[in-house]
Amino acid sequence: MRYLKDKNIVLGVSGGIAAYKSAELLRLIKKQEAKARVIMTANAASFIGPLTFEALSGNPVCTCLFEKGGNASIRHIEWAKEADAVVVAPATANIIGKIACGIADDALSTFLLAVTCPVLICPSMNTNMYEKISVLRNIDILKKDGYLIVEPDAGELACGTTGQGRLPEPEDIIERLISSLTPKDFKGKRILVTAGPTREHFDPVRYISNPSSGKMGYAVAKAAEQRGADVLLISGPTNLKPPANVETITTGSAKDMAAAVFDHVKDADIIIKAAAVSDYRPEEAAKQKIKKGKEETPVVLKKCEDILLKLGKNKESRILVGFAAETENLEENAKEKLVKKNLDMIVANLLDGKSSGFGTDTNRVVFFYRNGDKEQLPLMDKDMVAHVLLDRILEIGTRNLNERG
Ligand SMILES: Cc1cc2nc3c(=O)[nH]c(=O)nc-3n(C[C@H](O)[C@H](O)[C@H](O)COP(=O)(O)O)c2cc1C
Repeated sequence: MRYLKDKNIVLGVSGGIAAYKSAELLRLIKKQEAKARVIMTANAASFIGPLTFEALSGNPVCTCLFEKGGNASIRHIEWAKEADAVVVAPATANIIGKIACGIADDALSTFLLAVTCPVLICPSMNTNMYEKISVLRNIDILKKDGYLIVEPDAGELACGTTGQGRLPEPEDIIERLISSLTPKDFKGKRILVTAGPTREHFDPVRYISNPSSGKMGYAVAKAAEQRGADVLLISGPTNLKPPANVETITTGSAKDMAAAVFDHVKDADIIIKAAAVSDYRPEEAAKQKIKKGKEETPVVLKKCEDILLKLGKNKESRILVGFAAETENLEENAKEKLVKKNLDMIVANLLDGKSSGFGTDTNRVVFFYRNGDKEQLPLMDKDMVAHVLLDRILEIGTRNLNERG
């Protein structure tokens, strides 16, 4: 899905060492089929040449307020009028200070005074600079003034120090940009999402698990946050980075996951259970690593608590969505689970091991609803599946409200 397709995005580049990363950011903006324009400060041009941005954006780059030719003299106003979103990356301490004070002494700062669309500011600088009271105060002013701040990452910085101040990866900035343009139709909703596998240990170093990567649940959590929901993600062990602004609790076994879910269930209006929770666990887990010895070591498996079943029994007015991954009889199994667990809908998929299911970036799912309806979606990015799922949850919410009168 191209979330930024045909949107007018202006990239502002100021004179920080991370300016080289903004070339990659621009490439990703163009990959989303957005129309991109770039405004650079004079100092930014000391770090990276305007030609790079001109080639990547396919548009002339604005570096000077007083350029001659065309309608250059009012370019900052025209571009501001046409912009759907602006991202300043990297944003130096200097440009942050200028925006906070309403200073307009070059093309970028003047343009920023003229824009009315969402503006993302990506501060990036040496940690001591970032932690300076004046800089933090200016960032606070920007937040209060409605600018969207993309917090810098912590890590090793170009100046050799370690700490907060690093420009986030371009992929993460793109997610925040998409979020800035996403309608907040889940504002005020509290969503609990579970994701990933569970691990059922039979000794300290070995466990029974499944290949769930967590990608589907993380995509749902990310999409819900982008649409304004207050999201809690309860995740089994995965290699994924938690989505921005999503409170994430990491759990291990099905028992841990159940405890985390039941601790937070009261706060949720909507629960989406995308985790692949183990049905069985070894009855006993050895305290020490089991040594190789006998030819056979029987492991007795005991049923794990059925989290979804319990949630269904205590559903109240919550919307409850389950997932079913099947290797056969998809419709029959999914429908049975829907009824047995008192769900509003179930997202079912056949595990074909290629483009759909565990670990893939795409999924081919069927939605089954309480009223017997069924909806087959084509093969889609998991991000897109997440958005369609959220659309359907909104419809269920509206239907439930109407039914309650
Ligand atoms: C090598 C070098 C690296 C710099 N890196 C940064 C940086 O990462 N962040 C920052 O805020 N300033 C950085 N500065 C300082 C800015 O370039 C300086 O404050 C400048 O006035 C910013 O101008 P501008 O905001 O108009 O682009 C750096 C300066 C030099 C010489």
